[in-house]
Amino acid sequence: MDARNSTRAYGGIARLFHWTVAALILAAIALGLYAGNLPRGNEAQLQAIFAAFSWHKTVGVAALLLALLRILWTLTQRKPRPLHPGRRLELFVAEAVHWALWIGMVIMPLTGWLLHSAAPGGFSRILWPLGQRLPFVPQDAALSERIAHFHSTGWWVLAGLIVLHVAGALKHAFIDRDGTLSRMAGDPAKAPEPPASQVSTLPHLLAAIAAIVIWIGTAIIAASGAETAAPVAATAQPAAGWAVEQGALGIEVAQGGSPISGQFGSWQAAIDYDPDARGGHVAVKIDITSLSLGAVSDNAKGPDFLNATQFPTAEFKADILPPATEGGPHLARGTLSIAGKSVPAELPFSLEIAGEEAKAKGEMKIDRRDFGIGAGYADESTVGFPVTIRFDLTAKRQ
Ligand code: HEM
Ligand code: HEM
Repeated sequence: MDARNSTRAYGGIARLFHWTVAALILAAIALGLYAGNLPRGNEAQLQAIFAAFSWHKTVGVAALLLALLRILWTLTQRKPRPLHPGRRLELFVAEAVHWALWIGMVIMPLTGWLLHSAAPGGFSRILWPLGQRLPFVPQDAALSERIAHFHSTGWWVLAGLIVLHVAGALKHAFIDRDGTLSRMAGDPAKAPEPPASQVSTLPHLLAAIAAIVIWIGTAIIAASGAETAAPVAATAQPAAGWAVEQGALGIEVAQGGSPISGQFGSWQAAIDYDPDARGGHVAVKIDITSLSLGAVSDNAKGPDFLNATQFPTAEFKADILPPATEGGPHLARGTLSIAGKSVPAELPFSLEIAGEEAKAKGEMKIDRRDFGIGAGYADESTVGFPVTIRFDLTAKRQ
């Protein structure tokens, strides 16, 4: 078999690339779904999840590298001519799906690697001795989570495209019986000589545009999904000075390389704040049992971590200090008590007051080890050390 493509069939190298990349992509999808659906409970189960994700990532990176080589090779090759140039719509759909597959075979592993690189703290590793993180990607849990939304939405699109593509191949094999499959698999001599056809670039261009639209649509759907997963209103209680009308208090931590975030459904804040002095005092009580953290809520509240049975309440008591520079954030400086341990803590936050209404928003990073949380998880391979605590609230003057 010729290594290079001919006018009637793909050559040996194009075939090798096609089938290895196809197998790696199907394996990556299977491993991603398998890893994501393993039971989460004790340490052994979590380790099994991370091992599965390590394989997922390794297979995905291999698919990416081969897909890039494949693209370079394809650029040096002519394409076998279409077998049925007259069937314009069929040709357009096939080409649009091919273009979308080209984009998908790069964008899916790339977004996987990007979300892996942006995740702070520990992660399940790509199984190779080379680097883990991509350059120029900041470690930012929120960014990683946004990319994860795309990755989790995109695989549906890629899987749908593969189904269409395979359905097309099967139609040619069993309904048309026209030897299309022999162009990519089996004996190339069985591939019929396609009729001479005029080359016109417009349909190719339109098919490429359709493919780009498919992936931009995917990004838009993923972004809107990420927004609807945003804060839920908490049952915050009124207090002296300013009463919280609506707000969200959440945490974020890296679990096996992916950021996971959760919310406390119940907390109370007593806020005294004098807008003239730009200072005051705040006391927040958080009901630890109200934490929801995706599939690992019970683990997080269990004896290994927050130990909600023994320590049902966390507390943050702080003085509110005016901004150090004009236009800068306020600072709440005080003590944070979680799981029976109290540690000095500083929470910078932005504050906007309009009439009787105040909007405040801020976050701080703590280290779970300072509170003895997850002491049995002494490295970051399972759960990262840094935990981000984030709030966003609207309060009314009493
Ligand atoms: C597993 C079942 C699969 C079958 C039976 C199959 C079959 C085929 C066939 C017969 C062709 C040649 C079409 C033609 O001559 O015009 C082709 C091309 C192509 N396939 Fe697949 N394929 C499969 C999986 C995949 C997967 C998983 C991907 C990528 C994610 C993929 C990407 C492509 C691309 C991009 C082309 C166009 C190649 C080019 O024009 O250079 N295929 N496939
Ligand atoms: C061909 C390439 C790839 C495909 C088709 C793919 C597909 C998938 C699928 C189907 C899932 C499960 C989604 C879900 O449960 O909602 C997933 C999750 C994940 N993938 Fe990939 N993946 C690819 C490459 C990669 C690579 C190269 C990395 C990292 C280096 C990666 C990192 C991840 C991570 C961290 C998750 C979990 C995301 C989360 O927690 O939301 N993937 N991927």
